[in-house]
Amino acid sequence: MEHRLAMIGFGTVGQALARILMERKAELREKEGYMARITAISDAMKGALYHPEGLDLVQVFRSLEQTGTLDAYPDTPGLKRGWDSLKTIEDTNADVVVEVTFTDVETGQPAIDHCRRAFEAGKHVVTTNKGPVALAYRELSELAEKNGVFWGFEGTVMSGTPALRLPQTALAGDRVREIRGILNGTTNYILTRVEEGRSLDEALREAQHHGYAEADPTSDLEGFDALYKVMILSEVVMGVPLNRQDVERKGIQTVTAEAIRQAKREGKRWKVLGQLREEEGRIAASVQPVAIPETDPLAGVRGALNAVTYTCDLLGPVTLVGAGAGRSETGFALLADLIQIWRDAR
Ligand code: HSE
Repeated sequence: MEHRLAMIGFGTVGQALARILMERKAELREKEGYMARITAISDAMKGALYHPEGLDLVQVFRSLEQTGTLDAYPDTPGLKRGWDSLKTIEDTNADVVVEVTFTDVETGQPAIDHCRRAFEAGKHVVTTNKGPVALAYRELSELAEKNGVFWGFEGTVMSGTPALRLPQTALAGDRVREIRGILNGTTNYILTRVEEGRSLDEALREAQHHGYAEADPTSDLEGFDALYKVMILSEVVMGVPLNRQDVERKGIQTVTAEAIRQAKREGKRWKVLGQLREEEGRIAASVQPVAIPETDPLAGVRGALNAVTYTCDLLGPVTLVGAGAGRSETGFALLADLIQIWRDAR
């Protein structure tokens, strides 16, 4: 048996997964017994291909290099072109939908519709889009369960760093009472560089150059990116749904460069923290810049790294530090979800 994958969206993250599957094919097969072939790709800008026996990824990447689209992929018997995302989800032989479209996080669309259709068609979904998890978790997880399929979204918080898998597996049986996290790499990078003497504008330009920032960096700077991650953590780890307005939010602009450098001289570090605390069955949630002492495990998290501390009833605090963005890091998040589906099926 092997996974047949439909890639819905084929931008940076989707291509990263395809490359990992291509380059690690033998190793994945040998170590995990994992085998997958991409039978369909549907991307709003690049075009669409479907072949029930699988697409040749070398030819896919050659076509992208030559034309920026899938148009130069060679014609072979049985090849179909131009199917839209919903037809690709419903009418191809894929058993797993990899949902990595360019999705508006405020509406969660088109990713929410894609997940819904895939579950109704009895297909597993793995995604790195935050919208469906932050905005439609209950509906979609119930639909997945009803149809006996898996929904993987590890990459929505801290890319491939197992921020969601850790509490769901290793901490199962304990109770997470409090979560504190550096959940946005762009703002953590900016704070680190400003401490080192850069201006806020220079530091933002550098973060954009490295590709950490969202297309519109307002989402990073004003705390919306971290806010959606806080909503996901509340629902998935603490079991309590939150609306956007339930999360108090302050952007990084509320802190001056001078305050950042002064805090450093006083043995403190400004960090944009996402915080969730259970109080009598309710969750107090916020995203805001906070000056924390250097002795706090989160204070040493520098550059674009992310981190999260889960404070549990039995185990106390556990801190996880790792990548929060990046091509191969987010591609890996999808792979980790795929391997979980594979293992569960066995
Ligand atoms: N713009 C985000 C960040 C990328 O800076 O962390 C990952 O969601």
